Amino acid sequence: MSHVIAIDGPSGAGKSSVSRSVGRRMRFLHVDSGALYRIMTWQCLLNKIDTSNPEAIAEFSQSVEVECIPEEGAITYRVNGERPGNAIRTPEINRHASPVATVKAVRDRITQWLQEMTRFGNIIVEGRDITTAVFPDSPARFYLDASAEARAERRRKEEVKKGIADQSVEDVKKSLLTRDKIDSTRKHAPLRKADGAFAIDSTSMTLEDVIETVIEALPDSWKKDLK
Ligand code: DC
Repeated sequence: MSHVIAIDGPSGAGKSSVSRSVGRRMRFLHVDSGALYRIMTWQCLLNKIDTSNPEAIAEFSQSVEVECIPEEGAITYRVNGERPGNAIRTPEINRHASPVATVKAVRDRITQWLQEMTRFGNIIVEGRDITTAVFPDSPARFYLDASAEARAERRRKEEVKKGIADQSVEDVKKSLLTRDKIDSTRKHAPLRKADGAFAIDSTSMTLEDVIETVIEALPDSWKKDLK
């Protein structure tokens, strides 16, 4: 049976950097579950679906097909043969993703895609409900958090570096907090720390410290291939 490392936490807590690095060192495929919610949102917007209408989103979501391909240490996605790239990282997608992610039919479909990814082997999956709803039985579950200021600063730097946007830290923080609120108060699989998940506050930790903390906490029998 494949092993699963599950990492949840709010936006900008460092989940992507941490899970990519831990995945590389453990030789576990990195799975970005947020990208699937972003793809759903992107497809809704391209097809002029009203993202304030849950019924319309639910119906449309059943027609979206995503191809999952293991490639260079990660699961990559294609929609109609196309890689989504930065089209799913824009402030517009940020704004619409949380409402789309509240829709149960969307969550059920993406949860099934994620659970089926164990067919590719050992995986490290990051998101908002991985420890609570997608892989609640994994012995390696983490909740990564940081202060809102630190998260906004990191997200802003990332957006500028990728050339996606150049918003002020205040605007990034506002957008993060709005999304956190929707993600943690929604009815279906809200963001929360799961009972038994290992909590890490990365506000004043380096990326390397967080990576070491996660690896240290993994079951010893999983670490035979550690690089
Ligand atoms: O991690 P991210 O910012 O790329 O996530 C995009 C959106 O998807 C965000 O609003 C939260 C939502 N999401 C979710 O509800 N459940 C997940 N497992 C991952 C992301």
